[in-house]
Amino acid sequence: MPAYAVIGAQWGDEGKGKIIDFLAENAAVIARYSGGNNAGHTVINDAGTFKLHLVPSGICWPHVMNVIGNGVVVDPDVLLKEISENKLDPSRLAVSDRAHLIMPYHVALDRLEEQRRGSSAIGTTGRGVGPAYVDKVSRLGLRVGELLDPEDLSLRLPDIVAFKNEIITKIYGGEPIELDSVFELTMRWATELAAFIRPVEDLIAEVLESDGNVIIEGAQGALLDLDHGTYPYVTSSNPTVGGSLTGLGMGPNSYGGVAGVYKAYCTRVGAGPFPTEIEGELGDRIREMAGEFGVTTGRARRIGWFDGVAGRYAARVNGFDGMIITRLDTLDGWEEIKVCVAYEIDGVRTDQFPVDAVMLSRAKPVYETIPGWTESTRAITRASQLNSGAKAYIERLEDLVGVQAKIISTGPRREETLVLTDLIPK
Ligand code: IMO
Ligand code: MG
Repeated sequence: MPAYAVIGAQWGDEGKGKIIDFLAENAAVIARYSGGNNAGHTVINDAGTFKLHLVPSGICWPHVMNVIGNGVVVDPDVLLKEISENKLDPSRLAVSDRAHLIMPYHVALDRLEEQRRGSSAIGTTGRGVGPAYVDKVSRLGLRVGELLDPEDLSLRLPDIVAFKNEIITKIYGGEPIELDSVFELTMRWATELAAFIRPVEDLIAEVLESDGNVIIEGAQGALLDLDHGTYPYVTSSNPTVGGSLTGLGMGPNSYGGVAGVYKAYCTRVGAGPFPTEIEGELGDRIREMAGEFGVTTGRARRIGWFDGVAGRYAARVNGFDGMIITRLDTLDGWEEIKVCVAYEIDGVRTDQFPVDAVMLSRAKPVYETIPGWTESTRAITRASQLNSGAKAYIERLEDLVGVQAKIISTGPRREETLVLTDLIPK
C-alpha cells in the first residue's frame, strides 16, 4: 500500500491533528517527519481532548503504530510526559534513533537568541527547536540513538556543553548549563526511552510492502518552511512534502497522494508578513469567536482572510492532489466573506507569491467578496447537506488553489467530517 501525506498548507494550525485522527482509522502507521514540540495538534473524540506536541495524532487508535522520524527534533522530557499521559508503549510508538535531541542548552539559546533579535524577533515557540536544528547542521548534534551509548555520550558531552556555555555566557550573558545535571538527565532519558528507540526506516518499509497504509503527519505549514516559507519568519525545518522523504527515509515512489490542509480562513502566530491579516476589532472578534489561541504557547493567533495566492503557491511546492478544508463551520452566519485573489505590489498586480518577506510585507491583497450563508454547516457529514453558499465558497477555493477539495472539516470532533472523495482509496 502507498503512503499518504497530509501537510499544512498555510502558517500552521490548519487542523492537521483532527484530520490525522480521523484518517488514522484506515492506517497502520502515522508518522511525523519534521519539527518538534513547537507543534500543537488537537484531537477531540469520544476518548476526550488531546493536545499533542510530539507524539503523532494516531495515538487514539489502538491498532496504529505512531512513528517519530529522523527529521524530528525530540525533547525527551516532553516525549516522556506524552508517553505517560497517553499510556503509550513500544507496540504503539517508535522513535527514530537518528532523530536529534533538543537539549537544555537549546531551549536556553532559543530564548536568548530571540531576546537579542529584539524588534526583529521571529516569535518562536521558545522550545529549542531552531537551535537543535542548527547543531544538527553544524554536526554538533546528539541523536536519540546515542542515549543508548553512555560511554560515547560521556566523551562527547563535556566538549559540547563547554562550547555552548561559552556562547550562553560570553555572547548572551546568560547562566551556564551544568554538565553533570545534563549528563544525569541523558541517563534518565536513556532508561525511560530505550524501549521506544529503533530504526524506523525498516518498520515503515515493511508496512508499505505488506498491506498497511502509512499516513504522514505534517507539522507547521508550507509558509513556515525553511526554504519555501516567508524567510526569515519561518521555522527551521521543511514541513513541505520534500521534508517527509528525508525526515522518514522514504522514496517518492511510495507516495499515493499528497493532501494540503487549508483553514477556510488564515491564521499566523509569531512575527512575519501576513498580507490578508484582519487587524483591529474585527480580527479580535473572529479570534474570540473561533478560539484562535496557540496550543503550544497560548499566544493569540493573528487572523486573516483566505489567501488564494499563498494557497496556490503552497499547492505547487507540495504537488498537492487534494485539498482538505477545515473550520468551514466557523464561517457560518457571516454576511460576506473575502478571499484574496491576487496581490498588488508597488502598484503592480500579481498572482505570484513573492520570494522576499520584505516584498510580501508590501503586498496589498486584491479581494473578491463572496456572499456568506445563514445555514449551519456544523457537524454535517454528507455533501447533500452542504448549502449552496458554502458549496460556492468551497468551489471558489478549489479554483484559486487549483486542487480538488476532498475532505471538509465541519467541527473539531472526529466525526464532524465530510468526505467528498476518499483520500485513501478503499
Ligand atoms: P503546528 O504543527 C503555528 C511558528 C512560530 C514562529 C515560527 C518559528 O501546530 O501547525 P519555531 O519555534 O518553530 O522556531 O518558531 O514558526 N510555528 C508555528 N505556528 N503552528 C505551528 O505548528 C508552529 N510551529 C512553529 O510561531 O512564528
Ligand atoms: Mg497547532
